[in-house]
Amino acid sequence: MGEALLSITELNKHFDTAGGQVQALENVELEVQEGEFITVIGPSGCGKSTLLRIIAGLDTGYTGSVTLEGAAISGPGIDKGFIFQEHRLFPWLTVEKNIASDLPLGRPDIRQRVDELIELVKLGGFEKSYPRELSGGMAQRVAIARALLRSPKVLLLDEPFGALDAFTRAHMQTVLLDIWRRNRTTMIFVTHDIDEAVFLGNRVVILEPRPGRIRKIVPIDLPYPRKKTTTSFQELRLKVLNYFEKVDELELKDGAGI
Ligand SMILES: Nc1ncnc2c1ncn2[C@@H]1O[C@H](COP(=O)(O)OP(=O)(O)OP(=O)(O)O)[C@@H](O)[C@H]1O
Ligand SMILES: [Mg+2]
Repeated sequence: MGEALLSITELNKHFDTAGGQVQALENVELEVQEGEFITVIGPSGCGKSTLLRIIAGLDTGYTGSVTLEGAAISGPGIDKGFIFQEHRLFPWLTVEKNIASDLPLGRPDIRQRVDELIELVKLGGFEKSYPRELSGGMAQRVAIARALLRSPKVLLLDEPFGALDAFTRAHMQTVLLDIWRRNRTTMIFVTHDIDEAVFLGNRVVILEPRPGRIRKIVPIDLPYPRKKTTTSFQELRLKVLNYFEKVDELELKDGAGI
């Protein structure tokens, strides 16, 4: 294996709050290869968003080393796409203008890329629609297309399908895998959902809370497209669930759900 695209070593992050110090991440170590699909799972408050924000360059107050292609991440940039749980589209712009946003849609190369991306995220016919006219899943696809137009080295997704109903969510998982298969963009995808993590990821990173640490990294050695009903899928799901159980017990004691 060559040099990793993303290298995280001895990452520690704390927050100073009125109630004292919160250790959000402790000694996190992770190497991600180019083209990999990594899913990150863990209970609420275990540091998933904090980890993504650090990789995105949105938070630089940490110790340890986080590098992309060997260079320290010093701030946000278009090389790191970020998809949030809510789509964050501009309500006053059409789908195609949201995708282009600050890039000139009149430029032939941009126009062509936007058209290709609309095709890729299956939004043909909705180019001139406004966000209010879209379903949640469609709006998230616009957000993904907007990020991909910048050709990010890594796409960071923070529970992007968390607000969607089960059907739309399952559909979006398939759409995202199709995008990944065709584009080979490296993905780091945060979710609460074990099925989703096992369905999408080459590896599932399981985080535990207080302090946020990596409990286990489980490789998912199943070919794509995967089927959630197969025995091999269920076996891997149980394996992830097993590592999760201790974390889960901790959470229940605290009265918080996952
Ligand atoms: N800006 C902040 N100031 C103080 N504490 C913070 C801040 N951001 C996060 N934290 C704390 O750091 C810990 C990790 O938070 P984080 O948002 O990364 O968790 P998460 O795994 O994304 O949770 P969720 O699944 O609910 O989104 C939590 O204990 C949280 O309270
Ligand atoms: Mg979060």
